Amino acid sequence: MAHIAIVGGGPAGYVAAIRARQLGAEVTLIEMDALGGTCTNRGCIPSKAMLRCAEVAREARETDQFGVNVEFKGVDWAKVIQRKDQVVAQLRKGVEFLMKERGIRVIQGKGRLVAPLVVEAETEGKSETVKADRVLLAVGSVPARLPLPGFDLPGVMNSDQILNIESIPESIAIIGAGPIGLEFADVFNSMGSKVTIVELLPRMAPLEDEEISTELARSFRRRRIDAFLNAKVLGVAERDGKRVVQFEQDGKAQEVSAEVVLSAVGRSPNTEGVGIPEAGIEMNRRAIKANARMETNVPGVYAAGDAIGGILLAHVAFQEGKVAAANALGQSKEMDYRAIPSVTYTHPEIGSTGLSEAKAKELGIDVKVGRFYFRAAGRAIAEGHREGMAKIVVDAATHKVIGGHVIGPRATDLIHEVVLAVQMGLGAEDLGEMVHGHPTLSEPIKEAAEDALGVAIHK
Ligand code: NAI
Repeated sequence: MAHIAIVGGGPAGYVAAIRARQLGAEVTLIEMDALGGTCTNRGCIPSKAMLRCAEVAREARETDQFGVNVEFKGVDWAKVIQRKDQVVAQLRKGVEFLMKERGIRVIQGKGRLVAPLVVEAETEGKSETVKADRVLLAVGSVPARLPLPGFDLPGVMNSDQILNIESIPESIAIIGAGPIGLEFADVFNSMGSKVTIVELLPRMAPLEDEEISTELARSFRRRRIDAFLNAKVLGVAERDGKRVVQFEQDGKAQEVSAEVVLSAVGRSPNTEGVGIPEAGIEMNRRAIKANARMETNVPGVYAAGDAIGGILLAHVAFQEGKVAAANALGQSKEMDYRAIPSVTYTHPEIGSTGLSEAKAKELGIDVKVGRFYFRAAGRAIAEGHREGMAKIVVDAATHKVIGGHVIGPRATDLIHEVVLAVQMGLGAEDLGEMVHGHPTLSEPIKEAAEDALGVAIHK
């Protein structure tokens, strides 16, 4: 039986462990903190628990329109945190259970390569040496830190720290309008904080399609979330008991003062102190270099998840973990990044996949684009959703769906119809002809696909 040692028990590592057992290997998983990694303990899951509380708080203030009279008495923040911790604990225990159930040996400790196929796991001064036939490095990422003054001041937090903030701040300045910054902007705005975003690039959600960014910006503006765009942060200072974010916008010095500052300027691979370059493994700055089979340059050593850079998403890590385990154990698989969903859980939610209109044009692909707005969809109107749209990008020559974006209710779930279309090479006609339940929130996708061909029914 082949033995695989996996360093890191996050989405890449624990999924690879299960797949490796399914393929008949002996598996040792080395985790220095909690199973489930960033996603379960400090990322996707706790933030979604908080976003749900935010949604309930927002809806509780807006019940009048539904003819329901409720007196909103405020938010019990301690309970929000407690509920978030319970959700996290439940999922972490689920991962622990899966490891036990599958016969995966878990060593609690920090793993370090002492040779390409030898991992030393160290816990509280004691160490154990694990020799394996294959090694998978799935050591994840940590919040990136701007090398600027003031980021160590009390009240300046990263995405790990903000999850345990003791009370709802009266005001918060958020540096970075990527998914992390936007999701916390949503949470604290819904909880009643004054939220100001400071973003380096010219638009919020800069990696999304431009129309989607515009729609989000409009929605955030309505919610009185302020944003400074094209704004380069220079540092944070302290004045009158508040934090002051200093930045430059259009060559002018500006500042925002707030009780709390959240730094959400990306994440970087957590590869230090793991013995990676020492074992002869090539790096790409802080990221481990791996090919589409998740192989590093050293035979028998694989890498997956945030540690290899690229797209730092839990669901990408899940798939990379499965691909790594398969190749490590005699199968042959490659990662396919064409139809990765990007999902941001703001209100309105954003889901996107494949090529945007701009990216397709950049690649010289002639495209047709279809749009449909939720404000014209029966289910959305009945539910009181007025914002958002679906946008489908179609190859003009073949009519194949090559990308899509949804902003609006349940966009993070809805996008998967487009993911399937892009992945399977379906045409806009296929989405148009597929019978969609009526009235459902999925209809704007079908209508947008038909709109790309000029034959939308309800537009
Ligand atoms: P990000 O890289 O997506 O966004 C960071 C933003 O900060 C960028 O828009 C950047 O232009 C801005 N920025 C950088 N330096 C700045 C400066 N000096 N001043 C002002 N703005 C500055 O990273 P984010 O949001 O921190 O997320 C980290 C990773 O976690 C990403 O890969 C993201 O995809 C993933 N993630 C995904 C979520 C989801 O899918 N729902 C939720 C949370 C995180």
